[in-house]
Amino acid sequence: MIVYDKQSGTFTLHTCRTTYQMKADSHGVLLHLYYGPRLRDGDLGYLLQYADRGFSPNPSGSGADRVYSLDTLPQEYSTCGVGDYRLSAAEVEQTDGSLLLDLRYAGYGIRPGKYELEGLPAFHSQGWETLSVILRDPSSGVEVELLYGVCEEDDLITRAARLTNRGSGDVRLCQAMSLCLDLTRADLDLITFDGGHVRERNLDRAPLRPGVQGVGSVRGTSSHQHNPFVVLCERGAGEDHGLCYGAALLYSGNFIAQAERSQFADTRLVMGIHPHHFRWTLGPGETFTTPEAALVCSPDGLTPMTHRFHRAMRRRLIRDPYRDARRPVLINNWEATEFDFDAEKLVDIAREAAELGIELFVMDDGWFGARDSDLSGLGDWTVNEKKLPGGLEALVPRIRALGMGFGLWVEPEMVSENSDLYRAHPDWALGAPGRPQTLGRSQLVLDFSRQEVRDHIYDALRRVLDSAEISYIKWDMNRSLTDVWSAALPADRQGEAYHRYVLGVYDLLERLHRDYPGLLIEGCSGGGGRFDAGMLYYTPQIWCSDNTDAIDRLRIQCGTSFCYPVSTVGAHVSAVPNGQTNRSTSMETRGVVAMCGTFGYEMDLGRCTAEEKETVRQQVCTFKERCRLIQEGDYYRLTDPFHNRDYTAWQHVSPDRREALVSLVTGSTWAAKPFLTLRLKGLDPNALYRVNGGERRYSGDQLMYAGYPIPPQRGDYQAVQLYLEAE
Ligand code: GLA
Repeated sequence: MIVYDKQSGTFTLHTCRTTYQMKADSHGVLLHLYYGPRLRDGDLGYLLQYADRGFSPNPSGSGADRVYSLDTLPQEYSTCGVGDYRLSAAEVEQTDGSLLLDLRYAGYGIRPGKYELEGLPAFHSQGWETLSVILRDPSSGVEVELLYGVCEEDDLITRAARLTNRGSGDVRLCQAMSLCLDLTRADLDLITFDGGHVRERNLDRAPLRPGVQGVGSVRGTSSHQHNPFVVLCERGAGEDHGLCYGAALLYSGNFIAQAERSQFADTRLVMGIHPHHFRWTLGPGETFTTPEAALVCSPDGLTPMTHRFHRAMRRRLIRDPYRDARRPVLINNWEATEFDFDAEKLVDIAREAAELGIELFVMDDGWFGARDSDLSGLGDWTVNEKKLPGGLEALVPRIRALGMGFGLWVEPEMVSENSDLYRAHPDWALGAPGRPQTLGRSQLVLDFSRQEVRDHIYDALRRVLDSAEISYIKWDMNRSLTDVWSAALPADRQGEAYHRYVLGVYDLLERLHRDYPGLLIEGCSGGGGRFDAGMLYYTPQIWCSDNTDAIDRLRIQCGTSFCYPVSTVGAHVSAVPNGQTNRSTSMETRGVVAMCGTFGYEMDLGRCTAEEKETVRQQVCTFKERCRLIQEGDYYRLTDPFHNRDYTAWQHVSPDRREALVSLVTGSTWAAKPFLTLRLKGLDPNALYRVNGGERRYSGDQLMYAGYPIPPQRGDYQAVQLYLEAE
């Protein structure tokens, strides 16, 4: 619910459990007043404190009022060069070359439904209200429209900004954040999710220090190294207590998320496109739209914050037909064959898998052009008939005859130097004239900011997709961007290339969504290098990591879980010893870990023993049976695998709390381990549960507060799964 109170001038945004308030003061400065647990209506302007602070200037219009300073007041969208020395939300190079921006209130609108951001991903669906607040720079024609989407039911507030040049000359944006949030406290921790390739989204938590701290990416993608999701929380906050703010950016390119603890012990969080190499020219009348940021405030810990993001993403970010739909259990041939396969080998792998109940066969890299290694072939999206005689027209019916769907791998944004496409259009790859390009995995990046490049790739993909019954593609992206210079842009507009590239990727994905509405697209970027809420709008699942080691995955999947729903996390059982770590774990353990995701296999099941195959058959069966519970249930982290390596446990609880699935995996073992009693979460205290079909009944309160004993596990990396059903 959005309430504008004429008398006090406050805008109040209520969700079920939270309240957000701002107001334009007598100087027309839009001040942030509150974001936290839900409050009754009322003007929170009494919270503002005014004092004459040395070296905090007084803006135009405040006259001799030395207690009025932008430097000391909480801002809703901070300005630049006019007296607020904290992080700027926007920086604009004006026609006269100045970098000054002073934003004052100019009007508002409230309407049912959600605003739309053309060409950008956004939360959608029913149950939204929109607030738009207009701010103007009185000395230039720059206008900023702040957009707020309020989803009361899911406790979600989204934000974006539109910056318009209403003047008569060009201006240049140097920075345009999606989100600026001022909190009048500094006793907060910043949680970020960091790592690298095969080590994504490890949780890092540190108290805010004076000054600026944060994360970002300048790699052209959201990156393996940092994630566009951060949390600010009270020092003592844990899974079940303490105030937490989660902020996710729906963007898949360069991003920044920074928190600044200022001199007066308040905190500013800004999030948006990274200003590095970002310059955007706005001619008269032109508008720039920022990506969307989504905010959740949880007064009672990290778990409820996670639940709100999960629910909202599943129902209001993922689009039909995959909104809350069960994803097929798949088998992917990559780790089994890499580039070395032919049709017979693939059909053998598929046949074994089909017999064990697997529903979708995915042919990974190596099926096209001269792609016998990662040195060549990208860009030539025609079937390599030496490997696959008769093309997809011959292969796909054979797979479908096994009762399976068929999917395939593509990497549309890339080109190999050794490819027909590159020989025909060397200028289509990103790179500045007269400068040698930088290779990554021996490949170059196509300039997706250019329409003709996208059209060519799209036509090639269409020919593939129309040639056979294909129900899935894995959209990969296997390097970071370099040499970002676009032949389509003049010299003074090269600062637009990174963002135009991302818009180009979104454009192609949107075309696929429009023309192939049932096609399931799994995102991938060397595993989880582009695991962000922007991609999830187009690709309802994302390959979580190239690291399929079950034990490393405990941390990667746990870090991912803070924001992203289980149904979006690509997770497979692969062969042992694991290719990344050389570690061996049992089929049971690998299965339990992969079940906390979309679930599938990435190995030649033909090489398994009869006993292992039986385990696979049972796992597939269990997953199909428990899938709704796993993917739509509330997800609880029962332990913290970043600090406790003895064992990791998590739990899925059905929305009606009648069912739960508890999973536990132990670390490397040691003698005389302490007994382990696991305290469960989220159950109905009054219900009576049976555990794994046993005779004994345990009440929900017993299981949650007294706990459930886990028998001592012998050996390394053991897995336990408990299925709880209420009577
Ligand atoms: C990336 C992906 C892998 C696989 C290979 C193929 O690394 O993450 O899953 O598809 O590319 O080259």
